[in-house]
Amino acid sequence: MKSILAAGLLALASHAGLCSAQTFDPNKAAPQNFDLSKIGTDMKTNTTFSNPVSTENIGDPFMTKYTSAEGQEWYLYTFSTNDNITLKRSRSLTDNWDNAETRVVFKPDATGKDAGQPWSSSIWAPEIHSISGKWYIIFTAAPDADNPPPLQDALCPINCPAVNHRMFVLESTGADPWTSDFPMKSMLNTYDQFAIDGTYFQFKDKLYHIYSCWENAYSAWPANLCITEMSDPWTVKSNLTDRMIISIPDQPWEQVPYGRPIRLATNEGPQQLTNPKTGQNFVIYSAARVNTPYYCLGQLELVGNDPMQYQSWRKHTAGCVFHQNTQAGVYGTGHASFTTSPDGDEHYIVYHAQTTAKPVADLYRTARIQKFDWNEDGTPKFPLAENGPFAVPAGQKALAK
Ligand SMILES: *[C@@H]1O[C@H](CO)[C@@H](O)[C@H](O)[C@H]1NC(C)=O
Ligand SMILES: *[C@@H]1O[C@H](CO)[C@@H](O)[C@H](O)[C@H]1NC(C)=O
Ligand SMILES: *[C@@H]1O[C@H](CO)[C@@H](O)[C@H](O)[C@H]1NC(C)=O
Repeated sequence: MKSILAAGLLALASHAGLCSAQTFDPNKAAPQNFDLSKIGTDMKTNTTFSNPVSTENIGDPFMTKYTSAEGQEWYLYTFSTNDNITLKRSRSLTDNWDNAETRVVFKPDATGKDAGQPWSSSIWAPEIHSISGKWYIIFTAAPDADNPPPLQDALCPINCPAVNHRMFVLESTGADPWTSDFPMKSMLNTYDQFAIDGTYFQFKDKLYHIYSCWENAYSAWPANLCITEMSDPWTVKSNLTDRMIISIPDQPWEQVPYGRPIRLATNEGPQQLTNPKTGQNFVIYSAARVNTPYYCLGQLELVGNDPMQYQSWRKHTAGCVFHQNTQAGVYGTGHASFTTSPDGDEHYIVYHAQTTAKPVADLYRTARIQKFDWNEDGTPKFPLAENGPFAVPAGQKALAK
């Protein structure tokens, strides 16, 4: 019985192998060639869109919405460029974002007058949030382009290029994010320790900072998720004793290679997601390692009343909730944000991925968008990462002129 079953499975496996030759050649992935008719909305019909939705090599796409003074709804988009903070806006969620209106709102002179400033280089993971009538851009930066002095690097178990990365906040000068300037407001207190991918988490009229952290100044890996309480969008009020780690990459799928517990085990890119029907709060975060195919999304649910308690969070331990799809040639799916269709009824995940399973050092990531739903138990039900074509978001076609 056992051997017959095994033989049957073998036959099935080799049959499947013969039928579906590989269509994706990782050796040809870079430089990327894009068929522009398959980037974002299909302009011939405006009824479908395909991934990616931009050809630009970016990470950490962050999407939100705002309403202009004239009452028009816009999507507002930002992402990691490394050198500056760029905002884009479009009335359509899925039109090719290469063509959207663009503004650069923060651009340090990293090799000139701003050299050595703690916010001058390696600018990562900007997000823009509307809180109490103003817009706040929260982002990660370093003074040294991730090349710390050798004697500092030597304090870490192996090395720690990002040891001097910290979190910063820019505040809008007005209520409209598109017409405002964004002067520097503050550096967020992370106790002079590694901090990247910080985001805001709002719960019961309180504001928190959740970010990727190390256990101490030179521990380097694993990268965990930490939480502190804020008194306003630019001020952390918790002291170091009150700072709490709410997630460590303790699951094998959060570790690269699979199951290796310390080096390259990562939790980062946290993002609040609230189920609008049930009010359940989640932190969807990135796990494993950004420059591998295994980068994926993990899920924490707030099940207690105090986000500052480790015990208030429940991790989805069964595996990634969103991950690579080798058949579609989508790898390293991570750092997501969330928005809704123009009519507000449908939910969308915006994430980055690579199109090669063997990413080179300078990985090429593009922004992608997919609809997701909710499970019966109120948890998000993410789709398989796909290229489409998909139906455009509800209410979008009506906006196309
Ligand atoms: C912002 O950074 C990106 C990536 O380096 C670059 O392509 C773009 O030209 C920069 N924009 C400005 C205005 O410097
Ligand atoms: C940290 O703040 C808490 C109050 O939130 C206080 O009880 C504690 O004494 C403080 N610890 C230190 C080391 O200052
Ligand atoms: C699709 O929308 C664009 C503008 O968003 C418009 O220029 C184009 O004519 C539309 N195409 C169709 C077939 O409606």
